[in-house]
Amino acid sequence: MTGRTIVVTGGGTGIGRAVATAFARDGDTVVVTGRRREVLDGVVAELGGAARAVDFDAADPAAVTAALAALPPTVDVLVNAAGGNTGFDRPAAVAGDLAAQAAAWRANFDANVLTAVLVTAALLPRLPAGGRVVTIGSIAARRGGGDYGAAKAAIEAWTASLAAEIGPRGVTANVVAPGLTMGTEFFRGRLSDARRQRLVDETMTKREGTTDDVAAAVRYLAAPGAGHVTGQVLHVNGGAYLGR
Ligand SMILES: NC(=O)c1ccc[n+]([C@@H]2O[C@H](COP(=O)([O-])OP(=O)(O)OC[C@H]3O[C@@H](n4cnc5c(N)ncnc54)[C@H](OP(=O)(O)O)[C@@H]3O)[C@@H](O)[C@H]2O)c1
Repeated sequence: MTGRTIVVTGGGTGIGRAVATAFARDGDTVVVTGRRREVLDGVVAELGGAARAVDFDAADPAAVTAALAALPPTVDVLVNAAGGNTGFDRPAAVAGDLAAQAAAWRANFDANVLTAVLVTAALLPRLPAGGRVVTIGSIAARRGGGDYGAAKAAIEAWTASLAAEIGPRGVTANVVAPGLTMGTEFFRGRLSDARRQRLVDETMTKREGTTDDVAAAVRYLAAPGAGHVTGQVLHVNGGAYLGR
């Protein structure tokens, strides 16, 4: 489909970047967002005239509000890809340190839940009938994953209520939940070969997921033909977890 306007949070790297590239190839106009301007500028340079960047912290209500003027007046598809496991960036042991524990949980909630909730709330009035909200969850929501998995589980619950809220006006909301996906900054260089192999072994396809695997699922949910698919979680994990 061509000629739509797509906003992709976290569009500077990894899954968000692949999603932005897929839509730009379709002939859509893409707005990529994130906190690092130079990273976003790299995507715009690569995608050419079809893309534009708006840099802001999606977990900060004031920053989201301030960014609204630079974001498109009509948004056909919003893809919430911003997020990640903030646990990779913190010191290992917080057991017994309740203040550190609270900070850790809040960090993952901010990065994965608030980024999606705030940007969606801000842009919802700009989504016309036929609009789409797709949020990137995670296999971790179903498998544990501590504060990160809990945040991604919250995304699923929020999406169910969002779908009910916006369904009557012809807008859908769904989650795409990836398993191991390479080609991103997600693991911050901390994925050991042994763990990567274990995660591949858990799949039925016996391979790593790619950012294009995830982008294809997002593209499907954003297509006009997916208008009766809403409130769902689409698992893209090679069968490592069965969402049936
Ligand atoms: N890779 C995997 O194996 C995997 C598996 C399951 C789910 N996921 C999920 O997939 C999504 C995309 O992650 P990825 O794997 O592509 O990793 P990534 O390359 O680290 O992408 C995350 C993006 O989110 C942006 N971001 C993070 N916090 C933000 C904030 N507060 N405001 C604005 N932008 C923010 C980052 O840009 P800035 O730092 O410039 O802001 C970055 O571009 C995440 O929600 C992640 O949890 C990934």
